[in-house]
Amino acid sequence: MVPMVDLKRQFQEIKEEIFATLTEILESSHYILGPKVEDFEKKTAAYHGVREAVGVASCTDALHLAIDALGIGEGDEVITTPFTFFATVEAILYTGALPVFVDIEPDTMNIDAGQIEAHITDKTKAILPVHLFGHPSDMKRIMKIAKKQGLKVIEDSAQSFGAEIDGRKTGSFGDAGCFSFYPSKNLGAYGDGGLITLDHPKVAERIRELRNHGSRGAYRHGRVGFNSRLDEIQAGILLVKFKHIDEYNRKRRNNAMLYTELLSDRVSCPVEHQGAYHVYHQYTIRSKKRNEIQQKLKERGISSVVYYPAPLHTQEAVKFLGYQRGDFPVAEKAAREVLSLPMYPELEEKTIRKIAGIIKDIV
Ligand SMILES: Cc1ncc(COP(=O)(O)O)c(C=O)c1O
Repeated sequence: MVPMVDLKRQFQEIKEEIFATLTEILESSHYILGPKVEDFEKKTAAYHGVREAVGVASCTDALHLAIDALGIGEGDEVITTPFTFFATVEAILYTGALPVFVDIEPDTMNIDAGQIEAHITDKTKAILPVHLFGHPSDMKRIMKIAKKQGLKVIEDSAQSFGAEIDGRKTGSFGDAGCFSFYPSKNLGAYGDGGLITLDHPKVAERIRELRNHGSRGAYRHGRVGFNSRLDEIQAGILLVKFKHIDEYNRKRRNNAMLYTELLSDRVSCPVEHQGAYHVYHQYTIRSKKRNEIQQKLKERGISSVVYYPAPLHTQEAVKFLGYQRGDFPVAEKAAREVLSLPMYPELEEKTIRKIAGIIKDIV
């Protein structure tokens, strides 16, 4: 079966480096919040051109702690997209704030910045765009609105490590950028992990307290926090992979270009807006014959996944928000048409040609 992501193959290529790091960490007997985490935080802050980066246990936690540390909570509203992974909305709800959905752009499937202002109320405290599939949201427009309206911006960069707008990295535009190192992400650990990038030392300090039981030094607790620390083993693995991330992203882009060259006259292919650097965490096509394509790919031993089959406003868990089917027609149409194809740096040209050939036989 051709997988969505070939982590086995990637591991074979970096095995020596990984084993050397693991041996070093295991022999050090320093396993939580040690030198590897510090080094990773320093390197990723510099990479994003921000002053601070804080390692945490996952992107879900990164979003939760960032929203909390920015002073958003009970009774506040956070504007976001209904076309994302559920964690985006869970993180808002953990703080006691409520998500307010805004429909998406039909081409990038990111939040439609042109519709945001119509949803701002006197309870709105923040905008939370998601750089879906690795294509940046329209941060220039979003930051302009936020400035004008006095709102915070938290970027869900779970799928966009290394993506840029005019040479500036996603996760460096807003008040906080939140990253996921779930193993299948374009920068993935061998377990869970997350990161918050930001430019405010005071907020970073608050997040550092929150991730470690509200601790302000040995057994002194300023407030009730959480246990959400990045561990040394994951940070060590991430440091190895971080050295390769630009190359991994370049290879993803080359693979995406070949898919698009082969498929663009048959299905709707991902776009790249002017100035954007898409990292193709997913290569997601759209077609009315989506289900047929997926079935045929399966029969021929090719994986594919529908990210996401149900927009969040239609989810049982958030029924209490009061949204109805039909409220966000662009997101609902996307959910009926999207299909993500295998995408990873090591994906071979002949496999891309085979996948494209199968799709072309149907549409
Ligand atoms: C857009 C988005 N936000 C948040 C998350 C949550 O990340 P994590 O699994 O690291 O908590 C994910 C993970 O799939 C995601 O894709």
